[in-house]
Order: sequence, then structure tokens, then C-alpha cells
Amino acid sequence: MVVPMSTPAPATVPAPQGELGMLIEAEKIAQRIRELGAQISADYRGKPLRLIGVLKGAWIFLADLIRCLDLDQVSVDFLGVASYGASSRSSGEVQITKDLDMSIEGIDVLIVEDILDTGETFHYLMRVLGSRKPKSLRVVTLLDKPARRTRPVHADYIGFTIPDAFVIGYGLDFDQKYRQLPDVRVLQAPSK
Ligand code: IMP
Ligand code: MG
Repeated sequence: MVVPMSTPAPATVPAPQGELGMLIEAEKIAQRIRELGAQISADYRGKPLRLIGVLKGAWIFLADLIRCLDLDQVSVDFLGVASYGASSRSSGEVQITKDLDMSIEGIDVLIVEDILDTGETFHYLMRVLGSRKPKSLRVVTLLDKPARRTRPVHADYIGFTIPDAFVIGYGLDFDQKYRQLPDVRVLQAPSK
């Protein structure tokens, strides 16, 4: 995958203050999604595009992003995956909890992710979806948390690069809670 030269650099977010601290305000998220939407629209101009939202964390991001796309032919499908239980540590095992409804063979596919953390989910998705012969396969992620990578990843479009903290809100959960918060907040800074 090639990163378009014109992709705006992800905004790097400063370290958070305190517990449940504000990390990224709703208005900053909206502004960044408008920028990503413009970039993605330019890159896929004239081509049918399939967005694949990774459930559950990415559904709010996908809903906002799709309304910032200036494209005639956009379709949507969802893939459910689970890698975290009631814990803020990844088990490292990724499972499909809901498969796609439609074939992606010969289609330009953009995976819509909430956050890249260890990279295990990313690798699993690239392997599983790549084997289904899409015409192209790219990734947009709202958040990138590079501190705990166990594998190298490459996202084509990144909203914000964030420090090593467990974040919630704007679709992201801890134990299925907090998804409804309009901003991204820090639940727990990393233990030292
Ligand atoms: P990875 O496989 O470790 O890259 O983790 C990917 C998935 O773990 C994400 O799609 C999220 O669902 C979840 N995740 C990772 N970090 C966080 C976080 O800080 N808050 C909430 N969920 C997270
Ligand atoms: Mg996720």
C-alpha cells in the first residue's frame, strides 16, 4: 500500500492530564474527519468504494466519516472482531464475531478502524480480507497508538497519533461502557 503524498500528517496529541482526562474534544475530531473525508474523496474520485467498519469501536467514526465523503458510489459493510475482553489489555487473539454480508472481490475496500494498538487486529484483517481478493485494500484509523506495537502496521489515513493510555469515548469502550461519550478521553494512563 502506498500513502498518497498529499495525505495530511496525523495530528499528534499531547500527553493527557489526570484520570478520565480529556484527550481529543468533539470539535477537533469533527475537524479532522472533514480533512480525512476530503483526502479520501480525492483519492477515490470516480471509483466505487466499499467502507468496512470494524465493530464495534468504529461505528461512530464511520457514521461521521461517510458523511464527509464527496463520492457518488460508496457502500458499507461491517465486520465484527473481538480482541479485548473485560480488560484493557489485548489477549492478542482476534476473532470474527460477525462476518461481512457482501463479497469484496474486485472492489476497492477501505477498512475503517477506531484505533491501532498492538497491530494484531490490523494484521488479522489484512490477512483475512486480503485473501478475499479485493481490488485494493487500505485502512483509515481514527487513532494510532504506536507505543505497544507487537507488529509493524501501516495505516493509509490516520486521524490522531496518541500517547500510551487506554482511551474511551467516541465509540471506544472499556468493558462495553463509555462508547457514547462525544470526545476521546483517557480512562487509565499506562502503569509505570
Ligand atoms: P490491537 O489488535 O492491539 O491493535 O487492538 C485493536 C483493538 O483493540 C481496537 O480496534 C480496539 O477495539 C481495542 N483497543 C486498543 N486500544 C484501545 C484503547 O485505548 N481503548 C479502547 N479500545 C482499545
Ligand atoms: Mg476495534
